Amino acid sequence: MLDQRETLLIVDDEAVIRKLLHLKLSREGYQCDEANDAEQTLNMLETSPIALVILDIKMPGKSGIELLPEIKSGFPDTAVIMATAVNDIDVAIQCLKQGADDYICKPFNLEEISLAVQRALEKRRLQLELREYQQYLEEKVEEQMIETRKLFLGAMEALVFALEAKDKYTGGHSRRVTEIALALGNELNLSTQNMEDLRWGSLLHDVGKIAIDQLIQNKPFRLTHTEYEHIITHAHVGADIVRPVVNGKIVEMIEHHHDHYDGNGLHQVIAGSDIPLGARILAVADAFDAMISDRPYRSALSITKAIDEIKRCAGTQFDPGVVTAFLKAVGTMTTLGSKPSKPPRCSGY
Ligand SMILES: [Fe+2]
Repeated sequence: MLDQRETLLIVDDEAVIRKLLHLKLSREGYQCDEANDAEQTLNMLETSPIALVILDIKMPGKSGIELLPEIKSGFPDTAVIMATAVNDIDVAIQCLKQGADDYICKPFNLEEISLAVQRALEKRRLQLELREYQQYLEEKVEEQMIETRKLFLGAMEALVFALEAKDKYTGGHSRRVTEIALALGNELNLSTQNMEDLRWGSLLHDVGKIAIDQLIQNKPFRLTHTEYEHIITHAHVGADIVRPVVNGKIVEMIEHHHDHYDGNGLHQVIAGSDIPLGARILAVADAFDAMISDRPYRSALSITKAIDEIKRCAGTQFDPGVVTAFLKAVGTMTTLGSKPSKPPRCSGY
């Protein structure tokens, strides 16, 4: 349905023509404004919502042809009808190619003008409705994606906790690593988004252990090199599991959480600051929780010894900057004051 309260802007350097169009279109219920040159036209478009411009092609100063692209780029929701002399039809057609919605010829047939305005406004209304509907659909898809992602992450988190719960050595490991990693992230002044990524990376860092042989994982002796190689694949498997639904930072964090800062970790391809910061934080948090937890083949280290070990490995296994943050944060971590009654096995290996 045509909305006749919409505002039209009549642009022509000849006052007589402006008045003629103004009178005709006002009678049909449109709100009409007038401008006599390009500068006044742009000012009026800036200051009030205008649904349609009737734009004279030949004007002193900037012509309608020059003004058309400025209107279309600056005010894409405004329809434009070009007004031209009969002998300038080729120019008018050129204007249509540049985004004008229609053209009318001088001398004017007022009924044709009225129809052209109706058509252009109806086309504009349909375009606006279509865009609004597209935005609505995009928002719905985005909402659905967020919901699906949330469900997936929740399911993955539950899976990790279930995997840990059935193993007397790993119960609660991921939750404690998350607590430690977030304390380090806080010390390193990570942004809110980076802290959220770190939280998910920490909670899910060992999800790839679903693919690990339980007999090797729970072996009550030191692992052979081959067994260790098998265990370490959980970092890549975990990254592949979460890749479809989390952002790249979380994937990289999980993929590199066993990388050594000096590049001497197993099958490592990057080193130093090329290792994502989240993974360097996770490496310290993961190893610390591993050291203060029992393993099938050895008892947990004391907290003091574990801290000494983290310090000793600064610059080799761990990022020295992260170790500094760890030493500052270590006194505030509640984990340290509440060692679990069922000591978990570390994942630091
Ligand atoms: Fe791990």
